[in-house]
Amino acid sequence: MKICYLSEKEMDMKKNVKDALFLMDRKSHLGNEAMASTWRSPSNIALVKYWGKYAVQLPANPSLSFTLKESYTETRIELIPAADGKRSIRFFFEGKEKPAFIPKVEAAFRQWEAFLPFLKNAGIRIDSRNSFPHSAGIASSASAFSAMALGVCDLAARLSGERDRDVFFRKASFLARLGSGSAARSVYPEAALWGYSASIPGSSDEWAIPLESLHPVFQDFQDSILITDAAEKAISSTAGHGLMEGHPYAAIRFQRAARHSLIMSEILARGDLAAFVELVEAEALELHALMMSSHPSFMLMRGSTVEIIHKIRHFREQSGIPLCFTLDAGPNVHLLYPHDVKEKVGDWVREELTDLCPQDKIIYDVLGQGPEKR
Ligand code: DP6
Repeated sequence: MKICYLSEKEMDMKKNVKDALFLMDRKSHLGNEAMASTWRSPSNIALVKYWGKYAVQLPANPSLSFTLKESYTETRIELIPAADGKRSIRFFFEGKEKPAFIPKVEAAFRQWEAFLPFLKNAGIRIDSRNSFPHSAGIASSASAFSAMALGVCDLAARLSGERDRDVFFRKASFLARLGSGSAARSVYPEAALWGYSASIPGSSDEWAIPLESLHPVFQDFQDSILITDAAEKAISSTAGHGLMEGHPYAAIRFQRAARHSLIMSEILARGDLAAFVELVEAEALELHALMMSSHPSFMLMRGSTVEIIHKIRHFREQSGIPLCFTLDAGPNVHLLYPHDVKEKVGDWVREELTDLCPQDKIIYDVLGQGPEKR
């Protein structure tokens, strides 16, 4: 699939920006010192979904997400000059060495070394942990790859003397994207957009940008993650993206998502809750409709997912509270609502929804201020 919204001239311009971004780092190299950096980076929840990609992890359409606060990954990256001049990676998750994680991490470092040559011949030790339980069914690749990218960028900045904050986060977003697409959006506070849109200045397929204007009603928006099923995903996101290739609805989906991203950015700026509710739910269901109409078809919603969706819609009609749901590539439901109805919604969730979440697993999250250096 090669859906391209850019003219050749625009492509060239983008390439030059990328070259300029990383020029300094090409000159940097690791001396004899060991050095380390630790970053905490949050997960994010997409309001307009990224589903379908081409070339090197470039999105088929722009997507837009809220950055979370409580669901994060904290990662320490240590570089040790390698005696034999070859890169070696050791990965520790919550204190235990996990060789199983190495192939995905190594694949990211192989991409990153083209821009940051000091990564080619360093011994790398990565220590990582998540704030959320491993079995919670929360997608961790966004927080994991953004935390790793921020650490690597921080080390690069120390080697090159780079001081520009905007450039730093753009680079981090660029590198995070090469690890996992949705990770590109996690480096910014509150809300971020990833993917080129002719109508959104500064937008790019290569990195995410922070959303310029977010109405106060959204600034402390709540996200209660209702864990209906904590099992491993039946199909990886990467495989799911692949099924958009040749999908009968691909072209129309990518156009719609591009329009939805623009409309959503306007909704978020003007604080239009009614329009927000309608578009967020439409996007979630459209994502799952694409999965069901893929070849082969797959379905990630469970009976409890559907039951919760009905209950949310019923409660909204009865109470007039502007709460809504969205879904990731999984069966869990993200319940989104404004801060000022937190108590009412909390009471209702405890009464009506906990039974549909085995072991009462609900993670109460909220919009966050983005990554933190530790
Ligand atoms: C449904 O970012 O996990 O959550 O780029 O292959 O790592 P890769 O995929 P990933 O896909 C996320 C899909 C989604 C929608 C979204 O976050 O926009």
